[in-house]
Amino acid sequence: MIGIFGGAFDPPHSEHVKIAREIAAEFSLEKVVFLPSGNSPHKSLSTPFDLRVRMLEAAIGSTPFVIDRAESELSDRAYSYLMLPLLKEKYGDVAFLIGGDSLLAFDSWKKPEEIAKICPLIVIPRAEESMDELRAKAKEVTERYGADVRVSEKVRGGAVSSSVVRARVSLGMPVPEVSDEVLSVIREAGLYLEYREMAQRVKTYLPEKRWRHTCGVVLAGLRINERARLDKHKVIVSCLLHDCMKYEERVNEGVPSDVVGTKILHAFNGAEEARLAFGITDLEILDAIRYHTTGRAGMTPLDKLVYTADMVEEETRDFEGVEELRAAAYLDLDEGFKRCFLACYDQLLDSGKPIYHLTIDCYEDLFGGE
Ligand SMILES: [Fe+2]
Ligand SMILES: [Fe+2]
Repeated sequence: MIGIFGGAFDPPHSEHVKIAREIAAEFSLEKVVFLPSGNSPHKSLSTPFDLRVRMLEAAIGSTPFVIDRAESELSDRAYSYLMLPLLKEKYGDVAFLIGGDSLLAFDSWKKPEEIAKICPLIVIPRAEESMDELRAKAKEVTERYGADVRVSEKVRGGAVSSSVVRARVSLGMPVPEVSDEVLSVIREAGLYLEYREMAQRVKTYLPEKRWRHTCGVVLAGLRINERARLDKHKVIVSCLLHDCMKYEERVNEGVPSDVVGTKILHAFNGAEEARLAFGITDLEILDAIRYHTTGRAGMTPLDKLVYTADMVEEETRDFEGVEELRAAAYLDLDEGFKRCFLACYDQLLDSGKPIYHLTIDCYEDLFGGE
């Protein structure tokens, strides 16, 4: 049997190759065919197909894996129910590799009942997904559609994501998740530099450690967003700018007077700086920056994400209990945020210092009814 491994591969990273190798071993696959997506119905792609194929070639090197360019040739959108029969005709006995998140969303795929009839589905759980939940869903999909669903017992995905790789390149960080060969293609083609200019500007505002923290917040924000699925651009920009005024003494116009001279000034000041100096007009982004320290009643998902990523990022945060908070945040934004907020709130209470009114509002909003 041959495994079909579809994806955007924008860019392909170490986990893709590792998964292909391990799944091939676990399910005795003859080989794995990488199928980079053309115009995927699920994502708007920015990197041209040929470049993604070049990166894939660099990533798989001399492994026995194969790249199939079928989706580049489809004029229509490449739905799986249309692609899989073509691949079956070409390769014979095939299985379709999908992530745990795709299995959970199987009912919303285009024509799931047809996909179920074409070939077995091999499911690669993500590290944070519950095996019980996946097994239950596999059973349901089998019963409802007659599909042959096999959930991997050995392989876990989700520790590396292409968005994190892209952000690392944009931020000028080391990129351990891709091979040197892939990185050369990225550099040569000048890929993923969308936020480079903004990052370089923010860097000039901050000392080294705070810059590392900022990079950590962007990466943690994207990791949380793997499940929260908010607008990636808003996640990146608000995380990148959240602490820009941490070390600046000037006070921007529009900052409430009762925060001047306090530790929470930088959040309000940062939102105004984002607006005035970085030209950010998106109110959701500005609010996420503004409330990243105090919280407020009616936190938006983006507010929560920035607040939470700020607390659990992996570059500089290592206080006691951070790992539990991090795991909770990667699993579920709402729950992760609640726990992070409560941990901060308890600390504030213990300190005996006055608590800003928005923070009390936030507490009441979250726990008032309990
Ligand atoms: Fe901050
Ligand atoms: Fe921060």
